Amino acid sequence: MEMHRNSRCWCGSGKKYKQCHEKFDEKIRLLAQQGNIVPDRKLIKNKKDILGIKKSGEINTGVLDHVAKHIHAGMSTGDIDRLVYDYTVSHGAIPAPLNYEGFPKSVCTSINDEVCHGIPDDTIILQEGDIVNVDVSTIYHGYYSDASRMFMIGNVSEEAKRLVEVTKECLEVGIKAVKPWGHVGDIGAAIYEYATSKGYSVVMDFAGHGVGKEFHEDPIVSHVSRKGTGMILAPGMVFTIEPMINEGDYHLFIDEDNGWTAYTEDGKLSAQWEHTLLVTEHGVEILTY
Ligand code: MF3
Ligand code: CO
Repeated sequence: MEMHRNSRCWCGSGKKYKQCHEKFDEKIRLLAQQGNIVPDRKLIKNKKDILGIKKSGEINTGVLDHVAKHIHAGMSTGDIDRLVYDYTVSHGAIPAPLNYEGFPKSVCTSINDEVCHGIPDDTIILQEGDIVNVDVSTIYHGYYSDASRMFMIGNVSEEAKRLVEVTKECLEVGIKAVKPWGHVGDIGAAIYEYATSKGYSVVMDFAGHGVGKEFHEDPIVSHVSRKGTGMILAPGMVFTIEPMINEGDYHLFIDEDNGWTAYTEDGKLSAQWEHTLLVTEHGVEILTY
């Protein structure tokens, strides 16, 4: 859509087009001409949207900090679910997983060989030596945020500790690969390279995703991809990076009974860390710190 230079910008900033996204559009047009996949305008967040996601992210981080403070051996994942629900609701927000496509709880809790989407339950008790991913997503005033951390319950094996640490580094390596006007494929290339150099595999069946007024938007952020491929990363895009890294191979299966929980096929450990990120003019900002 062509815009007059003096009319209000399509991004909703209220500014004149020529003082807002005119140069941006020129750049996008050129990149598209050169054969790149470029983001749709609806993926470009304005200041108000970014502030909204940031506020949602602040509550989301508060939830994770609250879990970090209370998690211990002997508690159930059902207890974690209640911690998440109570904290979120008491801060005026909504736990995004609750009733999302039929997901029955407020948070995902994935232990040891569970790759992701573990469903909290009062009968699942955290044991000393477990590693557990707590994946928290929040809706606040219509804006989504999404982040997860690993928790080590009591003393865990050296192997488990190393997997948890390397997986955190995989997220960091992925975040460092985010460059304005780079490609989404740069992220998965960096993560894959790092994880495999440490002797681990990278899950391919789940990916990061755009996030904003919806839980899952474009782009799909693969953790296994090639540098210089996929959608252009333009300032104003918001998405998650959430690598799932396996001790053994990458194959997984989904629990047939609940339809959600993914397990490693070989029964070996899996870990995951996640942040919601904003591409800025000059780099990247973490919105879930
Ligand atoms: N936080 C998960 C993600 O990164 C949520 C999966 S959907 C749920 O997309 F219903 F399981 F929460
Ligand atoms: Co996510």
